[in-house]
Amino acid sequence: MAYSGPFHYGDRVQLTDAKRRHYTIVLEEGGQFHSHKGIINHDDIEGMDEGSVIKSTMGSDFLLFRHLMVDHVLSMPRGAAVIYPKDSAQILVEGDIFMGARVLEAGAGSGALSMSLLRAVGPEGHVFSYEIREDHLVYAEDNVKEYFGKTPEWWSPRLGDLGDVTQEDLGGPVDRVILDMLEPWEHLETVRDLLIPGGVFMTYVATVPQLMKVMEGIRELKCFTEPKAWESLVREWKVEGLATRPEHRMNAHTAFLIWTRRLADGVTPPRPQRRARK
Ligand SMILES: C[S@@+](CC[C@H](N)C(=O)[O-])C[C@H]1O[C@@H](n2cnc3c(N)ncnc32)[C@H](O)[C@@H]1O
Repeated sequence: MAYSGPFHYGDRVQLTDAKRRHYTIVLEEGGQFHSHKGIINHDDIEGMDEGSVIKSTMGSDFLLFRHLMVDHVLSMPRGAAVIYPKDSAQILVEGDIFMGARVLEAGAGSGALSMSLLRAVGPEGHVFSYEIREDHLVYAEDNVKEYFGKTPEWWSPRLGDLGDVTQEDLGGPVDRVILDMLEPWEHLETVRDLLIPGGVFMTYVATVPQLMKVMEGIRELKCFTEPKAWESLVREWKVEGLATRPEHRMNAHTAFLIWTRRLADGVTPPRPQRRARK
């Protein structure tokens, strides 16, 4: 499946009407898109450039673009809540998901984060996505397959409890571990056993009690660096002359991110230096 260039049969195309309503179609030879604004023949879209406008049989204009990954994530069917794109972006950069990395993820949920990880590590890397619920794993597998056009060879979606995973299951230690689940503090020892020294561990939790439990658990294990925690707030702006201002509505809270790195075996974590009170 192409991600850029002129449209071809098999591409997922997003049509946007004058009221900014989106419709997604997969281009098929001889196919037709029907709406109350008329009909568009798929054959007329084949070969057009992205960003073109096409007229329906009733004279309505539709803007044509490929579906971006963010469009797919926000519109795909889901069994579990997805990691929002603003947070996936943080994970990719702060979690240092590099090309060729071996990444362990749990739970796979709806597969939203899996897609970002898979694109970042590329075919030279590998993503292992564990999911304890079969129904959720099916969502993840279907969503990933639909986005990539097939299941990437460098992805291993697996039904199972993270707590049971061993290095043998993964063919050795992994470079990065990313957790998005209800009780990640239950699995810190597993993360310690699976992560290579220097590897980055990030987890995503929605509430303050979860945040505190993970931070305390990481400190207690004494095999990770002092963890840091943050949240990302993204506020859109309306930019229209004198009406320029932040939008009234925003997703004010999604979740907290926690970040730490695995120390080498036998190393005692240096105590964080805190400024003395005056
Ligand atoms: C919020 S969802 C993950 C969403 C996913 N990150 C995404 O972006 O689509 C949390 C998932 O963790 C799974 N889960 C919870 N505990 C688990 C465990 N011990 N091992 C594997 N998966 C687990 C749940 O079944 C659920 O599907």
